[in-house]
Amino acid sequence: MSERLVELRNVAKSYGRVFAVGGVNLHVDRGEVVGLLGDNGAGKSTLIKMLAGAIQPTSGDILVRGKVETHWDAARSRNAGIETVFQDRALAVQQSIVRNIFMGREISNWFGFIDSTRERREAERLMREIGFTSKVFSPDSIVGQLSGGERQGVALARAIYNQADLIVMDEPTTALSLTETEKVFRFVRTVRAGGRSVLFIGHNIHHVYDIAERFVVMDRGTVALQATKQEVGSAEQLIAFMENIAHPQGVVSFDPASTQAGASS
Ligand SMILES: Nc1ncnc2c1ncn2[C@@H]1O[C@H](COP(=O)(O)OP(=O)(O)OP(=O)(O)O)[C@@H](O)[C@H]1O
Ligand SMILES: [Mg+2]
Repeated sequence: MSERLVELRNVAKSYGRVFAVGGVNLHVDRGEVVGLLGDNGAGKSTLIKMLAGAIQPTSGDILVRGKVETHWDAARSRNAGIETVFQDRALAVQQSIVRNIFMGREISNWFGFIDSTRERREAERLMREIGFTSKVFSPDSIVGQLSGGERQGVALARAIYNQADLIVMDEPTTALSLTETEKVFRFVRTVRAGGRSVLFIGHNIHHVYDIAERFVVMDRGTVALQATKQEVGSAEQLIAFMENIAHPQGVVSFDPASTQAGASS
């Protein structure tokens, strides 16, 4: 039996009369990687901001481990074990890996000072846990000297330290090369193997297809498709589905009658 970690029920967010998200149902179970897809402006970021408690839904319910949350906000979202990793932002590039992991949640000793020895040991354990295999890096390495994929790894290590059960990654591979993307995928797989869940947002359908086992496709604020990898079939079929949303038949087809009607008016 899969355990339902997070669920959105009929969640909507409007800005004035514009619905950024309208009546979305979505869930993430424990230990699964869900790919969230959709064109620009489909509502993906709005959705994850609601999950993160950064913005409030206009209507609908957020459930964590089967219970409806009330007074949902950023602190409650974190306490519920939801962490969002954004491309590049979030990290202090001039600082070491260890500083970045413990920023804001330092381990202190009896005297209230930062316990660097314990932090370093814990950072090493976390780096191993998410699959940092390179001997070149130590917890004292400066994040600015890491590659893009490795930086995502540091952000994941921090999320794990914060005891995240669900890690939301907003476009983590958009600016990355193929090898860097593969690094991120390796990290995501290790995170998943540890029983955590990942909601992976991306533009590159091939990337999302590779890493996720279930897909949610958004279109203009609503969910257009929810399907497992098995149901979807191939990446090509997922692409075909998304192209059909972007250019539904009838809109792109040429209709001489309507053109003439348009010309005469
Ligand atoms: N603060 C806001 N005020 C008004 N409209 C907003 C606001 N935030 C988002 N929107 C609108 O809501 C819709 C969804 O935006 P959102 O950023 O969630 O899309 P997205 O799927 O993340 O797109 P992208 O792939 O470009 O990141 C867009 O039409 C956007 O203009
Ligand atoms: Mg977005």
